[in-house]
Amino acid sequence: MTYAHITGWGMAVPEKVLTNDEISKMVDTNDEWIRSRTGIAERHIAAEDESSATLAADAALRALEVANLKASDLDLVIVSSSSPEHIFPATASIVQDTIGATNAGAFDLSAACTGFIFATNMAAQAIRSGSIKNVLVIGTETLSRFVDWTDRNTCILFGDGAGAFVLQADEEPGGVLSAVMHSDGSGADLLTIPAGGSKQPATAKTVNDGLHFIKMEGKGVFRFATRVMARATKETLEEAGLTTDDLDLVIPHQANTRIIEAAARGLKMPMDKFVVNLDRYGNTSTASIPIATVEAFESGRLKAGDKVVFVGFGGGLTWGALAAEWSGPLSAEKKVHHGRYLFLARIRSVLLRALRVVEGLLWGDYGRKRKL
Ligand code: UT7
Repeated sequence: MTYAHITGWGMAVPEKVLTNDEISKMVDTNDEWIRSRTGIAERHIAAEDESSATLAADAALRALEVANLKASDLDLVIVSSSSPEHIFPATASIVQDTIGATNAGAFDLSAACTGFIFATNMAAQAIRSGSIKNVLVIGTETLSRFVDWTDRNTCILFGDGAGAFVLQADEEPGGVLSAVMHSDGSGADLLTIPAGGSKQPATAKTVNDGLHFIKMEGKGVFRFATRVMARATKETLEEAGLTTDDLDLVIPHQANTRIIEAAARGLKMPMDKFVVNLDRYGNTSTASIPIATVEAFESGRLKAGDKVVFVGFGGGLTWGALAAEWSGPLSAEKKVHHGRYLFLARIRSVLLRALRVVEGLLWGDYGRKRKL
């Protein structure tokens, strides 16, 4: 039997940090309100030369390094994002090219903040089917580009960043144990970017009306989130034949500390079993779970053999959970083996980015065509 193991993980966040105090100079809010209502103290914001694809590629290269895998060994790249580079082509195609995943198919998956759970489950299912062996799953966001910085209901919440997992086939039992995926499109209006799609294409009027920005009915999303987090966790545990007593860690979507506390109460679990890092990153949407996972691993809270549940909710509406037995890092000996290759892959990614900028400056569209 084939199992889907999580063998690599990586994250990337922009250097620039935006604090609550800085936001309070832009809109009528204050540090105390934001901290007490959300738990957020600061978030990272992408610089001009950063985008969902560049952050994704950085996180991906780190995940490949941990997994001790070459990009050319990947069979599939799935990118989950609500702030993709374009409507098309897929951000996954751009990432696939940047990291040199020359043998992989690549596509985007859109399920808002729950996207990383859906994508990881799809990767695990594909591996278990026996058709592919190595999959890269990335959650990446630059939602700061879609935030109305005059709307205090939303601009305090979101941050930019990316996180990635490598999943690999192995005969050894473990890895992804179960998953549940849910959607309820009747709540689609609660969290949306109204214009810019085929229903309401971008026009001067949609831009004047601010319809290209995130619109959210915060209370409605909050109520929905507190209903589904504990329920989805229980469902996936049941499917895996586990109970909350078996769980070492829960890694929830990082949207609001009060939502995570409600989930802990619903599961009758102590808060110290939950990873919370939204104080430093805000809500990075689909990137929040892999970013929290990387930090949990690096701080020693997540260890090989641990039973962990990832659980999230978001626009759509969507929600889901995934249970896994954490596979742990590969041996140091194996890591050294590909160290040189990965160093070169990073250099290649930086050079490619610089080349695109120079080509754009010199030849505009012609620069792109030359490459083809
Ligand atoms: O990944 C999924 C994405 N979305 C979410 O997870 C959002 C879920 N929802 C939430 O986290 C919360 O609903 C918010 C944090 C967005 C808002 O917290 P709330 O406790 O639901 O506040 P509220 O919207 O009910 O607003 C309470 C008051 C209002 O004033 P009045 O009408 O009582 O006078 C708001 O105008 O707080 C006011 N308010 C603010 N005050 C200072 C709203 N935003 C702010 C602000 N600073 N930034």
